[in-house]
Amino acid sequence: MKILLINGSPHETGAVARALLECESTMRLLGAEIDNYFIGTAPHSCCTACGCCKDGRGCVFGDIGELYKKCKDADGFVIGTPTHYFGASGTLISMLSRLFYSGIDAFRYKPVAVIGVGRRGGAFDAALEIEKFFRFSSSPIISGIYPAILYAKDGASAEYDSEGLQNMRSTARNLVWLSKCIGLGREYGVSLPIEEERIKTDISSLKEI
Ligand SMILES: Cc1cc2nc3c(=O)[nH]c(=O)nc-3n(C[C@H](O)[C@H](O)[C@H](O)COP(=O)(O)O)c2cc1C
Repeated sequence: MKILLINGSPHETGAVARALLECESTMRLLGAEIDNYFIGTAPHSCCTACGCCKDGRGCVFGDIGELYKKCKDADGFVIGTPTHYFGASGTLISMLSRLFYSGIDAFRYKPVAVIGVGRRGGAFDAALEIEKFFRFSSSPIISGIYPAILYAKDGASAEYDSEGLQNMRSTARNLVWLSKCIGLGREYGVSLPIEEERIKTDISSLKEI
């Protein structure tokens, strides 16, 4: 079972990295294989709705190819976002928008845990903003003994939030547990749910009562 950790912060060794490290050590102890991706500091466009990806050749911007491959290869995800103005990292949102629009198959039915890290307030809102993507891909969203949030301003201060670090460990354990259940289910022939042909209501055709 391979779990991909995505660090959605501009800091490679900041508070989000520290929270992810807590998840990583917990999951390694439970036998998970770990892969990592750091989104970095380069600017990334949001989805421009150009529609070029509809021919199946991926996003017209070449910057998400490596991340897409890692997502496709993973069985589950831990995604860490810093809190920026009570919301998630804009860069992470920009990249996920294009990943989901051009390659949602890389995420379907794979469990995800989203962790939010902030100095003072809004970390839960930040995590929810990222979780919402996974409500389009039938992905089980992992909970813990408390929402997976940690309070810190940087990597060093993250050590002081021992409750936050415990939240990371409990969430990580639950992700491994569910991933194992899904893997065993697959081995024993439990098939994925059937998918109906997609209905898209044309709102402009709805009548007023
Ligand atoms: C542009 C910006 C906006 C921020 N807004 C918030 C905020 O609304 N609430 C909060 O608690 N922390 C906020 N912070 C602080 C970061 O969330 C906090 O320092 C976090 O630990 C950073 O994680 P990192 O070290 O992995 O980047 C903000 C930081 C930046 C750079």
